[in-house]
Amino acid sequence: MNKTILAIETSCDDTSASIISNGNIKSNIISSQIDHKKLGGVVPEIASRSHQKNIIYIVDSALSEAGINKKELDAIAFTIGPGLLGSLLVGSTFAKSFGYSLGIPIIGVNHLKAHAFSHTINKKDIKYPFLSLLVSGGHTQIILVKSYNNMEVVGETRDDAVGEAFDKCAKIMGLDYPGGPLIDKYSKNGDPNLYSFPDTIVPELDFSFSGIKTSFLYFINDRIKENKNFISENINNISASIQKKLIDMLLDKLIIALDKYEVQDISICGGVAANSLLREEMINFSNKFEIKVNIPKMEYCTDNAAMIANYASYMYDEKKFSDYDIVPFSKNSL
Ligand code: KG4
Ligand code: ZN
Repeated sequence: MNKTILAIETSCDDTSASIISNGNIKSNIISSQIDHKKLGGVVPEIASRSHQKNIIYIVDSALSEAGINKKELDAIAFTIGPGLLGSLLVGSTFAKSFGYSLGIPIIGVNHLKAHAFSHTINKKDIKYPFLSLLVSGGHTQIILVKSYNNMEVVGETRDDAVGEAFDKCAKIMGLDYPGGPLIDKYSKNGDPNLYSFPDTIVPELDFSFSGIKTSFLYFINDRIKENKNFISENINNISASIQKKLIDMLLDKLIIALDKYEVQDISICGGVAANSLLREEMINFSNKFEIKVNIPKMEYCTDNAAMIANYASYMYDEKKFSDYDIVPFSKNSL
């Protein structure tokens, strides 16, 4: 079926728009709201205002980069949740109005489901069931995906998300937000085995990252008492050690999940899937456990509208359109 969909993603701090035509991504424009860097985190009201400011320009760029006229669109997709309510309202209201004015269907897409399918962008060979490790600033979940619309969360964090743990540890070291990519960068020249951190015991496939963040804070404070330049003199080794700990905590649970569920494929997604150690370890995983590992391209890991467009195109094929009274939700649910 011939189809061209515009997708809009505004769940957190990035305004993004993408065009997908017959299953191929034609454009994926992202405007990161760099203001949050100075503020040390995402401030919901500032995020909403920036989406409001950016959205028309971002949509316009996505259309022109794809060489598509708005009259050629068959549907408008948008993130319906989970996310920051004010941010979601901007994207969904824009999508509804645009869809209404063009007289075409709208498709509300679950952000988590879209992440779980981000490795399928521009690909056709998907094997079900597969396990997806969704790791971002807001989520840490292991999802058993049985089909495009049948997914089950089989493990999740009981407190902080792993991306949040990266960002909080980075903040403790005085690094800018988001700190995950900076820890990754410094780790490249550090010894991951120099410092160790206590294990956090959590049953089954669940995770907990709040304890490790507190241990990290005590560790840094203790070392600073001995040497006030401890962080600046050891940033590479500290980063590499905390990164290894956080990634090991993810891998330990994935090993249990692989034992429990019969799957041939495993994938990673979300912002933390951009982490170089996690990507490297997943490749080792595929050899060790003789399993196919799917790793999304870097640009499809952090929040982006291409993943919304990709998932929307599955929904479009089954005519899963949304009613115009659909409203966004903030709760973390599939
Ligand atoms: O998926 P995402 O863009 O937004 C959410 O839905 O949260 O993920 C953002 C998170 C942030 O916590 C950021 O620090 C983390 O992903 N992140 C990384 C890396 N790149 C982004 N964490 C570790 N290593 C990276 N290379
Ligand atoms: Zn996300």
